[in-house]
Amino acid sequence: MSLLLTGIAELTTNDPSRGDGLGDPGDALLGIVRDAALVVSADGVVEWVGPAREAPDADSRRDLGGRAVIPGFVDSHSHLVFAGDRSAEFAARMTGTPYDGGGIAVSVAATRAASDDELRALVAARVAEMRSQGTTTVEIKSGYGLTLEDELRSLRIARDFTPHTTFLGAHVVPREYASDRAAYVDLVTGPMLDAVVADGPTSLAESIDVFCEPHSAHAFDGDEARAVLEAGRAAGLAIRVHGNQLGHGPGVRLACELGARSVDHCTFLADADVEALVAARGTTVATLLPGVEFSTRSPYPDARALIDAGVDVALASDCNPGTCYSSSIPFAIALAVREMGMTPAEALHAATAVSARSLGLDRRIAPGQAAELAVLDAPSHLHLAYRAGVPIVRALDL
Ligand code: NIG
Ligand code: FE
Repeated sequence: MSLLLTGIAELTTNDPSRGDGLGDPGDALLGIVRDAALVVSADGVVEWVGPAREAPDADSRRDLGGRAVIPGFVDSHSHLVFAGDRSAEFAARMTGTPYDGGGIAVSVAATRAASDDELRALVAARVAEMRSQGTTTVEIKSGYGLTLEDELRSLRIARDFTPHTTFLGAHVVPREYASDRAAYVDLVTGPMLDAVVADGPTSLAESIDVFCEPHSAHAFDGDEARAVLEAGRAAGLAIRVHGNQLGHGPGVRLACELGARSVDHCTFLADADVEALVAARGTTVATLLPGVEFSTRSPYPDARALIDAGVDVALASDCNPGTCYSSSIPFAIALAVREMGMTPAEALHAATAVSARSLGLDRRIAPGQAAELAVLDAPSHLHLAYRAGVPIVRALDL
């Protein structure tokens, strides 16, 4: 049973060769087709894309009533496996208390105390919340277990929801190792990593990540981060890095040197960091997480300058209980446009095509691609930022 979707006022294909060239400023990136149609096979694969007047027949049809269709958002950075509540920490930040990563211990304690069923239900609710806002692909990190068993458990639960799982045993040094940091790095790079890859390099985790942040007493310095990332890479995992979130530091350059798929946050960048990102173009994506700057009162990174310099820029939510408890990619897009100098087209591209690339995925709407789609109660992608805070976009259930 194939399905013909019509009534698409504007289709973003992320394939510039497919655009109808009618002059939207976003065309060069988004490959926009107006008055479009799509044919999707019974198993959810795109069979045909083009102008509605040329659409072939299909077994059934659905009229979307003049809405815009976009590729589903790819949220390439989230921490959904956690229990507990840190809303008081957010409130304190709004009146001036800085973020230093210390609150992660609160989430670790609550997560360790939660049952598997409780954690799975929490993750299910968060993934559903994302889908209701247009996200069809999500990366999920561990990092609130920080014991061998609790990290494995977090990854197993995350795997129930996505193949894009990331081992973040090196999130912070847990309290019980505070006086022997080296022993914790040895645990992460030894027994924990061995267990993560025991059934094959990507059986439980696709990537490894580290919170590289010399400005936090809880996180890892450049040497510790290098040890974690090199061990993960040797074990067959892709590399992702939390870098340069709280201040200048080695995270971005280390990520680029080691061939990371992504270095995330990039809030404080020196010229040498930007040069490293430019040189790493095509390999390492700079994933900006503006919900974090919003939620921690940090300065927003200058996405405009990064894009103009030639850096690959992605957008993601970083949904987590500390620095950004928002699962909303439309919110991130609105912030990127309003606060970071991105055009609406660049922001949409960054939250779909570029974030997808950082997960090794291709997020175009083209024949042969999975039909991972989102639909807007609006006629164009411009409304994503224009209608900030209004729930106009959701994943399209076929
Ligand atoms: O991406 N910076 C490190 N990790 C998370 C925050 C974790 C937390 O505070 O619970 C982040 O911002
Ligand atoms: Fe994060």
